[in-house]
Amino acid sequence: YQKLDEFQKNFLWGAASAAYQIEGAYQEDGKGLSIWDEYAHQPGNTFKGTTGDVAIDHYHRVEEDVALMAKMGLKAYRFSVAWSRVIPDGEGDVNEAGLAFYRKLITLLKQNQIEPVLTIYHWDLPLALQKKYNGWGSREIIPAFEKYCRTLFSAFKDDVKYWVTFNEQNVFTSMGYRWAQHPPKVTDIKRMYAANHIINLANATAINLFHELVPNGQIGPSFGYGPVYPLTGDPNDVLAAVNANDFNNNWWLDVYCRGEYPYFMLKQLQKAGIAPEITADDQVLLKSAKPDFLGINYYHGGTVQTNRLQKPVKEAEQKDFSATDPYLMQPKADQAQSPEVPMFNSVSNPYLDKTAWGWEIDPVGFRVALRQVYEKYRLPLFVTENGLGAVDELVDGKVDDQYRIDYLAQHVKTMKEAITDGVEMIGYCAWSFSDILSWLNGYKKRYGFVYVNRDDDSQKDLKRIPKASYYWYQQLIAQNGAQI
Ligand code: BG6
Repeated sequence: YQKLDEFQKNFLWGAASAAYQIEGAYQEDGKGLSIWDEYAHQPGNTFKGTTGDVAIDHYHRVEEDVALMAKMGLKAYRFSVAWSRVIPDGEGDVNEAGLAFYRKLITLLKQNQIEPVLTIYHWDLPLALQKKYNGWGSREIIPAFEKYCRTLFSAFKDDVKYWVTFNEQNVFTSMGYRWAQHPPKVTDIKRMYAANHIINLANATAINLFHELVPNGQIGPSFGYGPVYPLTGDPNDVLAAVNANDFNNNWWLDVYCRGEYPYFMLKQLQKAGIAPEITADDQVLLKSAKPDFLGINYYHGGTVQTNRLQKPVKEAEQKDFSATDPYLMQPKADQAQSPEVPMFNSVSNPYLDKTAWGWEIDPVGFRVALRQVYEKYRLPLFVTENGLGAVDELVDGKVDDQYRIDYLAQHVKTMKEAITDGVEMIGYCAWSFSDILSWLNGYKKRYGFVYVNRDDDSQKDLKRIPKASYYWYQQLIAQNGAQI
């Protein structure tokens, strides 16, 4: 292009977070435990045994944190509500003190003209529901989720316009039920698809309830999207990419946006005996719920080749991949015959550099992603996460994270190109506002614009120190992205 379109005037430049990763105060003011409170306390589950017990203590520092957002000029802030803070056992009495915390946060944001973007579920299921109903493994959990949603909708319908139902359903179901890296630590693909279907029903229930109770608001899920590339022009690799796109993207997005599962993949799962049980009522429910926008979390895509059964993935290749990335994980050689595997093999993309955690850096893929999703579903897109996890160093009281600025600038540019292509977008929330707990990677893997002075071994003083990227984003917002 000779000239890129400008960002619309009300484009929501934001930043994001999630309750478990920032709040701390895990047993305060009546909060119940979540599955993550339990999981992180069990030895061997997280990096160096790090937990969110204190996290970055946002619960007690919310005024200071919002003041930093305001100073930065943030237009939107995406956060999640901890279900067990609001309803400690997940389905019983509402904990007013828990609601009061989020009311305070929302009030502070609005006083500073920052649009709150509320995520209802960012992985921290009340532990009581896991124990009583087997969590997302049983349909009995849906009324509890509905009650939780009703509580939030009633409390905040006048103050929160943008709502996210589930954060990265694809990631937390894969990690929890397939790769045993998140609670409930299961490796059973059939159970993964079963839980996933129940969550789809919960998602549709929440969206319908929202449209009844909050007619002026907007709601949608946030999906971890990555475009899929074939490694070569070998038609077998191209076919593998078609298959991988069904497995990694369409399986979720088609249900959210079209109310039905993708045809070929459903057939495949049925043949393999691992498809979820889908009743006629389920089909009606899924069809009835329409999101108002689609949240997209973008970190990277994936590259695949045809699965040559005799050629299991090399050990060395496996080690390159982040242990926390469900789509880069590989079946072990002895699983190579399992029914879903022969369709594709994930491989490293020779054209792309990687972060210190092995995540490919692919800004062009961001444009591809936005284009693909908008073309297929024609819903306004809201980028609810995008960012770089890196080891940042505090030197003489400063953090010069030029690499993060470069990463974000490249992605904002390709997003601007996608907008120029015609993609309709509401906003962009960088991940994350401040440094936070990375679920499995502790406090070492930092994403924030604001450095938080703590590490895996010590809480230190939790001081907030704006990084170079904070001032860069401040400028970007002030000029509404004109300099990109
Ligand atoms: C997304 C999650 O998957 O990626 C975030 O929604 C998470 O909660 C982010 O922190 C980065 O992942 P990681 O593993 O690098 O912390």
